[in-house]
Amino acid sequence: MDQIASEFHTITATPASPHIGAEIGNIDLTQPLSELQVAELHTAFARYQVLFFRDQKISFDDHIRIASYFGPLGSHVGKSTISKTTNNPLVRKFHYDETSTQISGENFHSDQSCAAVPPLGSMLYNHTLPPDGGGDTMFASMYAAYDALSDKMKQLLEGLTATHDGTRVFGPGTPISVHPVVTRHPVTGRKVLYVNTDFTSHINELPRPEADRILRYLIDHSIKPEWTCRFRWTPHSIAFWDNRCSQHKAVWDYWPHVRSGFRVQVEGTAPPVAG
Ligand code: SIN
Repeated sequence: MDQIASEFHTITATPASPHIGAEIGNIDLTQPLSELQVAELHTAFARYQVLFFRDQKISFDDHIRIASYFGPLGSHVGKSTISKTTNNPLVRKFHYDETSTQISGENFHSDQSCAAVPPLGSMLYNHTLPPDGGGDTMFASMYAAYDALSDKMKQLLEGLTATHDGTRVFGPGTPISVHPVVTRHPVTGRKVLYVNTDFTSHINELPRPEADRILRYLIDHSIKPEWTCRFRWTPHSIAFWDNRCSQHKAVWDYWPHVRSGFRVQVEGTAPPVAG
């Protein structure tokens, strides 16, 4: 794909697919960023929904600083036993090796959509990757998924809400929240299909047999390859995704090899609003 260099003065952005994802170049994330660099990252984030960076040997402090350009950081709402806490409460460790029996995020999902105010974004840094490739992360655009629905389906979904149940993934004590099935992104104003396999248990306003089949259809539709991209990690890469308009899935094809890194999340600013 061509680089879109003209739009930006400080960074380069190379789209990863027509609908989602761009690799950002000409930036050193180990150094404090200028206002213009930060503004251009915000523009790229709104446009591409997930940004990728390579060859960035960042520390915990760098990780926290870079994510903080997008808002205050928060912590995980659940009690995940797969990703681990670190000595910094804002940073979680995502480490898999020959002892792993499962990994985090194998189904397409939007992070912690079970929360009343789900995280705005998540920033994953991987320093160690399997030696023969593998361990990619896939991303799907929920703008493109919504846009591709028929007008009749869009009408049907208007005003519907769905329950997002965190106990399905993280067990008792995790939040359960109700969000619109179609949301509006607070920055771009675009409509988003906001249901996912992990957390969405049911659509609330329809009889259960109808609700279940429509939800199944929407979930299958949301992750069609046509609006996905796939990030092939290299050591010391970063992926930063917008949970308000995308879903992602970790591919576990590398056991017994090691894939290891850290993740922080940027807090959401408000509950998702109806589209
Ligand atoms: C996740 O945040 O769901 C994990 C993504 C990944 O490990 O690629």
